[in-house]
Amino acid sequence: MKKVNNNKTSSVQGREIFGDFTSSFITDIRMYKEDILVSIAYSKMLNKVGLITSDENNSIVTALEEISIEIQSNKFKWDPSLEDIHLNIEKSLYDKIGDTAGKLHFGRSRNDQVATDVRLYFMNKISLLSKEFKDFLLAIVSLAEKNLSVIMPGYTHLQKGQPVLLSHYLMAYFSILSRDLERLESCYENMNVMPLGSGAFAGVTIPVDRKFLAKELGFKNISNNSIDTVSSRDHILDLLYSLSSIMINTSRICEEFIIWSTDEFDFINLPEKFTTGSSIMPQKRNPDYLELVRGKTGSSIGNMISLMTTLKGLPFTYNRDLQEDREGAMNSIDSVTKTIVVLKSMFLDITFNEEKMFSSSIESNILATDLADYLAFKKIPFREAYEIIKNVSNKLSDEKKSINDLKLEDFKKISDLFDEDVMKINVNYSVEKRNSYGGTSTNSVEDQIDLAKKYLNSK
Ligand code: ARG
Repeated sequence: MKKVNNNKTSSVQGREIFGDFTSSFITDIRMYKEDILVSIAYSKMLNKVGLITSDENNSIVTALEEISIEIQSNKFKWDPSLEDIHLNIEKSLYDKIGDTAGKLHFGRSRNDQVATDVRLYFMNKISLLSKEFKDFLLAIVSLAEKNLSVIMPGYTHLQKGQPVLLSHYLMAYFSILSRDLERLESCYENMNVMPLGSGAFAGVTIPVDRKFLAKELGFKNISNNSIDTVSSRDHILDLLYSLSSIMINTSRICEEFIIWSTDEFDFINLPEKFTTGSSIMPQKRNPDYLELVRGKTGSSIGNMISLMTTLKGLPFTYNRDLQEDREGAMNSIDSVTKTIVVLKSMFLDITFNEEKMFSSSIESNILATDLADYLAFKKIPFREAYEIIKNVSNKLSDEKKSINDLKLEDFKKISDLFDEDVMKINVNYSVEKRNSYGGTSTNSVEDQIDLAKKYLNSK
């Protein structure tokens, strides 16, 4: 094996060889706009408190705006040997305006600067995602409204249990996802706290005007403890959890639609543009988009676990590990936003096989609970009624028959509590009878739809 001459590895060579290892700028490029906004606000603040002149402020701001345009148009020359975008932008500022550039960092540390950039970046991304998310929720509500009269079998353990309205089912999706929207909005609030003015970690000696900075940058609040400010990343963890929850919940919905789209179920027609063919089996339309939502859930959860692991055991205050705080969350929020855009447009085009859903709901002993309830309303204990119907249902299943095949005289043989009105019990009856608040009757689902619309209008 060839001998390596270790003596040659000075720290300068180390930086050249291992620059990539320590650099965050490939990730940080995604938040260059925020970095420049933060510097512009900081320059204005330094001018306001008399630490730089108006001329100096003007030349800093003008140069920073130029840099922003250069980056946007891909003309900016990044120097990978510099650790991050802050140092790259600072160097370019020096090249443009000379020593005045050096005045911008007075009282500022990259520790509070990066913390500010990251918060602003995610606030913007959360706003975008929330908007898409609201549209997705609207699409669900309109699908529920469109299918208000459709009856389907409801399942527990993936076994048919009781009939429900398809709209009730869709509004369950709305309910779970509206909590995700709430979580996203609370993530925005958690992000909405300005770190700038904390310095490296101990506060600063200059008469920093943090209220002015917060106003310039659009932050609602200012952080209260400079040590916590540069050390903590729980606001990113909150976001990663919220994003994972969105993926977990949408993944469940997608899994359900995958099952419903099989020949065996045949409940749903996926819009063709959201399916793909097989390269060898010509007859196939695969639900790839739904499967990919399910698949992408893994990386969202992974990114959350990854940051949790990074933070665990990390001493206060800033440690370089914290540079690993944003890449996963940036990837997750982009991927979740794409997921929601795809699902929204799919939901606008989905159609259901009403007849198949209905026939599937009458094909089994799905009315067993209604019959047990019928007997219990005649004042026998529910457990006794349950046993009677369970025995009948088992016997019918053995005979490959269903409760629907029973005539009045058959019911009377089961129990003399059955009267003619038992013949009224069918899936429609079963659905409408469940008129409890939140239940599956048409009235109740209409109320749920009204509430959902009011909720979305208030957003
Ligand atoms: N590249 C660093 C990050 O993104 C910036 C802060 C570096 N601070 C330091 N003391 N080395 O977190």
